[in-house]
Amino acid sequence: MQDERLITSSLREEDVKNEYSLRPHFLTEYIGQETVKEHMQIYIEAAKTRGESLDHALLYGPPGLGKTTLAGIIANEMGVSLRVTSGPAITHAGDLAALLTNLSPGDVLFIDEIHRLNPNVEEVLYPAMEDFALDIIIGKGPGARSIRLDLPKFTLVGATTRLGMLSSPLRDRFGIKEQLELYSPESLKEIIVRSAEILKIEIDEEGALEIASRSRGTPRVANRLLRRVRDYSQVRGSGVVDLETAQEALSMLKIDELGLDAVDRKMLTAMIEIFKGGPVGLDTIAAYTGEDAGTVEDVYEPYLLKLGFLARTSRGRVVLPAAYIHLDYPVPQQASQVQQMRLEV
Ligand code: ADE
Repeated sequence: MQDERLITSSLREEDVKNEYSLRPHFLTEYIGQETVKEHMQIYIEAAKTRGESLDHALLYGPPGLGKTTLAGIIANEMGVSLRVTSGPAITHAGDLAALLTNLSPGDVLFIDEIHRLNPNVEEVLYPAMEDFALDIIIGKGPGARSIRLDLPKFTLVGATTRLGMLSSPLRDRFGIKEQLELYSPESLKEIIVRSAEILKIEIDEEGALEIASRSRGTPRVANRLLRRVRDYSQVRGSGVVDLETAQEALSMLKIDELGLDAVDRKMLTAMIEIFKGGPVGLDTIAAYTGEDAGTVEDVYEPYLLKLGFLARTSRGRVVLPAAYIHLDYPVPQQASQVQQMRLEV
């Protein structure tokens, strides 16, 4: 289901090639995430001045915000190579051992979805991160012995959408932890203008801001919508992406002014009409949207939470007044009370 939604922040097949060509290579080209950028600039400069490898870094936040891009930038800024893998791709301890022994000094090893590492593999990672060593067991039973292999000093960059699902021993081994946040429409507008230049798409400021406002704070969504609007303007418009073509194209795609699609609206409408605004359990919401619970939580909810449309409570999700107003429903008194309670905590 999620692959069919145009506004998903998960990686779709069509994004793979495009993201690669649009990716910034250095911190100065990277737009937004000012705090993360400032921190990384200091850590990188300090490590380079000392002639050391960068500390292990953990990047966390919703999908599509540029965690892989940032890992690439870290490698470029440090002047080293980047190796990319992901938690689910490393099935055996031996796979990780092979990756680690092939690194050169200073290299960046990027592990996406690091919360999905198999516990046996995680065990191998601990001494590798802490002591730059691999402990290899030779033989079986009482005669088994362990030998220690030295590894080059490398930097592990881990990425996760779920900080809470990372084991604490793993989390504690990262010296640098940075949270990526949803982008403002102004930053997304800059990203769209930059991408349009690379893709040779003619666009004006208003057209770019319109796409930005409907991109759910996510560059991956913004770049995807830019390509769709470009197609529309080529066929139905003048070829230049302006406010009018952006509005027309996005309403044709049923993406509203805030970036909600038909599935978001259906979910919120069901919560309002059937469940009286909630609380509604995550699994029930997932069943209504046809997604699994983890995807709802990681991919679709962050933006709805940021808009102030939903709140997470211990008994489930509740709809907040802003969502009633956006969907043209009268705000019930109980929804205002939830909002009030939220403001007081
Ligand atoms: N493309 C995707 N994310 C980006 C960012 N943060 N800055 C510039 N270009 C991007």
